[in-house]
Amino acid sequence: MSPVLNLSSVTVRRGRKLLLDDVDFRIEDGERWVILGPNGAGKTTLLQIAAARMFPTAGSAEILGETLGGVDVFELRPRIGLCSNSVAHTLPGRETSLNVVVTAAYGVTGRWREEYERQDERRAFQLLNDWGVGTVFDRPFATLSEGERKRVQIARALMTDPELLLLDEPGAGLDLAGREALVARTAALVQGAFAPATVLVTHHLEEIPPGFTHVLLLRDGQVVSAGPLAETLTSENLSTTFDMPLELTEREGRYSAFMKS
Ligand SMILES: Nc1ncnc2c1ncn2[C@@H]1O[C@H](COP(=O)(O)OP(=O)(O)OP(=O)(O)O)[C@@H](O)[C@H]1O
Ligand SMILES: [Mg+2]
Repeated sequence: MSPVLNLSSVTVRRGRKLLLDDVDFRIEDGERWVILGPNGAGKTTLLQIAAARMFPTAGSAEILGETLGGVDVFELRPRIGLCSNSVAHTLPGRETSLNVVVTAAYGVTGRWREEYERQDERRAFQLLNDWGVGTVFDRPFATLSEGERKRVQIARALMTDPELLLLDEPGAGLDLAGREALVARTAALVQGAFAPATVLVTHHLEEIPPGFTHVLLLRDGQVVSAGPLAETLTSENLSTTFDMPLELTEREGRYSAFMKS
């Protein structure tokens, strides 16, 4: 079986800046990856490539068995769920939350073109309920709080029942209880029988849901370390990645890190 994602020597250049520099990253079916790294490390850029929203300047990207550049991205994108601020900006604020979710099924961001089946609406409503935002289904997206918007976006990312789920800082803006609910729901989601391969970008180790299997550490567009979480998420690797002496702690499958005193 081909890997879910196979990035080989991927470089992304903008002017003289290398956003990604010779990155290799391979995800096999059933793996759940966390990506960590400082602001500007290239995490969102990496997800943009994995989501078939951006092409590498050099190197090759295989996504769900298709080679980026040799496939119609509009056929590929519905197979990938992406929750990212880079998508949020393209969602029309006057659309209701329900429509923001339901339109994902058609790879469009507005409701004006398609007729939707009641079945799709029921699924969208169920997803909003699952993520704790069922009550705002008829509210314009622009009027939602930041945390509510995040949850609607996760529901949207799941609408097409994707084979690859990419979550870029889904916990940003969530309150403490919201974060814990997100961690619990994500943990339950990835441990389900038909769970998609999942990649989670976060700045907070507390947001790593139990059940995540691998970690990729990025710095200045380069991979510092990548591999199974138990071996790769270490104080030493974190200290190198963030250029600061850090101490990792783990308790019952949850992580945090502080500067070494
Ligand atoms: N068009 C561009 N031209 C030059 N630099 C760019 C361009 N687009 C992005 N960058 C830079 O590329 C780097 C990587 O950006 P990216 O959004 O991938 O970082 P990130 O790891 O997601 O950061 P954050 O944690 O802040 O979200 C940043 O330094 C950004 O300023
Ligand atoms: Mg980012």
